[in-house]
Amino acid sequence: MKISPEILNLVPYKPGKPISETQREYGLSKVYKLASNENPLGPSPKAMEAVKKALEHQNLYPDPSHYELLQTMSNEWGFPKQQLAIGNGSDELIDLLTRIFCEPKQGVLTSVAAFNAYEVSAGANRAALHKVPLTEGYCFDLEAIADYFMAHHQEKDIRLIFISNPNNPTGTYASKEQVESFLARLGNRDDVMIVFDEAYNEFVRAEDYASAQNYINKYNNLIVLRTFSKIYGLAGFRVGAMIAPPTVVEVYNRVRKPFNVNDLAQVAANAALQDKEFLQRSQQICWKGLDYFYKKLEELGLPYIHSQGNFVMFDTLRDAVKVNEALLRRGIIMRPVLNYGFKTHMRLSVGLEHENEAAIAALKEVLKEIPVLAGTPIPTV
Ligand SMILES: Cc1ncc(COP(=O)(O)O)c(C=O)c1O
Repeated sequence: MKISPEILNLVPYKPGKPISETQREYGLSKVYKLASNENPLGPSPKAMEAVKKALEHQNLYPDPSHYELLQTMSNEWGFPKQQLAIGNGSDELIDLLTRIFCEPKQGVLTSVAAFNAYEVSAGANRAALHKVPLTEGYCFDLEAIADYFMAHHQEKDIRLIFISNPNNPTGTYASKEQVESFLARLGNRDDVMIVFDEAYNEFVRAEDYASAQNYINKYNNLIVLRTFSKIYGLAGFRVGAMIAPPTVVEVYNRVRKPFNVNDLAQVAANAALQDKEFLQRSQQICWKGLDYFYKKLEELGLPYIHSQGNFVMFDTLRDAVKVNEALLRRGIIMRPVLNYGFKTHMRLSVGLEHENEAAIAALKEVLKEIPVLAGTPIPTV
């Protein structure tokens, strides 16, 4: 059996540890999972209602044209349907965009500590991934990414660029000014596609943030990804969305499976997108939770990165593997971020108030138990 090295080098995705597994392993009855940037309020109630009704016709195949959901996205986001598409989570969109734009050995460009799916999709599609270092503030360095592209795109045959804005796991963002000057340099080139992944778009509070959606009609090589997994509370249904030039949507629709998004998922996303009250409640709970975490992390003397997502990455100043283990024993699931090169950091998702309090109380105990190490330098690979 001969398997290509790109496939053999893939590292399996490590999801947040499931609650049931943690309960079994540690003999616990109460476990809080604040590890996967999910919506702690559950799904939008309007989505749940719509899904219950839709159960009756699940003997039928789903609508392969995604008509209703695309219509609602068009109304809500102000783009014609020819510029919109959905996938089985933005994960599927990331994977298929890589397949569409990269032939084996061609290059995908992103940042160090970018959302891990870009690396996995590059490997799975036998493309080569290139990473540019973060800034000192743990941000994507858009200027350095554009410089890297200009210097190396011919030699490395770079065809696709992924910018996660805001980024997971760091929670950092690129400002409107940075996005605009990046697009002014690389926009409208016919040899590269630029993908802005805005999974956390709705949680952003920074006033100088601008969604790349604003520039979709100005640049013909720009794609924006959104997801229903975060603020809309539908991670289990698997719906991601794409805003793109009509030609990209047309090609994507040829490549994807006809029934890639199941009917309940389409129905749920359609209802959730119109549930404004739920969106606002989700924002409020996120922002209140983040402010609580900032205050408590300051009290604990732990450096953290201001986040524009629904999670915060902080430096435990200790071995994160040991910290994680000690937290699990206390029934708290957070996310160590060693796979991104951070050996002493953890990522903590915002939960409900009592979950946030339990996480901080457990962390306080764990800090006393585990000895201090030096903080991790910013990773370079
Ligand atoms: C930056 C970013 N993009 C995309 C996703 C994937 O979202 P989906 O559930 O739509 O596949 C995530 C999930 O954590 C993410 O953090």
